Amino acid sequence: MKRAAIITSSDTGYRGEREDLSGPAIREILEREGYEVVSMEILPDEKSMLSRRMAEIADENLAELILTTGGTGFSPRDVMPEATEEILERRVPGIPEAMRAYSMTITKRAMLSRATAGIRKGTLIINLPGSPKAVRESLEYIIDALAHGIEILTGEAKDCARK
Ligand code: MTE
Repeated sequence: MKRAAIITSSDTGYRGEREDLSGPAIREILEREGYEVVSMEILPDEKSMLSRRMAEIADENLAELILTTGGTGFSPRDVMPEATEEILERRVPGIPEAMRAYSMTITKRAMLSRATAGIRKGTLIINLPGSPKAVRESLEYIIDALAHGIEILTGEAKDCARK
């Protein structure tokens, strides 16, 4: 079973002033798709805390997939893409490209998400935007393709021939 970790970037969520609806939305989709959700946490919009935690999950091989939500917009506190890029070893631009391309058929504001994605060791890390609506729209669109990428990453699949 593929293991997934969820990180919500939100100052107000971290302080308990706002209920996190996006983390649970991600969990629901992942569990429906057969992933084991090993952790779901809320961190403040602090670049060093976010990048340290993502690196720890990857380096200690705690999950094959990290999905983050929030912190991808233009607010001065939105630093999730920078926190992610700081610890990535290899970028996977096609994933955020696909999310934005599909999402722009729903709202042009999708172009305002600076989400990034990439690989560190055996872990694929993907930023999703912050609202539960945006999470559902973005994740539902990419989820099918992720399993194959993770299988190649972990050596479970050797080539791309369709079964
Ligand atoms: N993507 C989808 N699919 N649906 C949306 O409603 N909202 C956008 C964008 N991506 C949206 C979306 C908006 S309004 C913003 S500001 C950016 O995501 C950044 O969101 P974040 O700062 O919460 O990460």
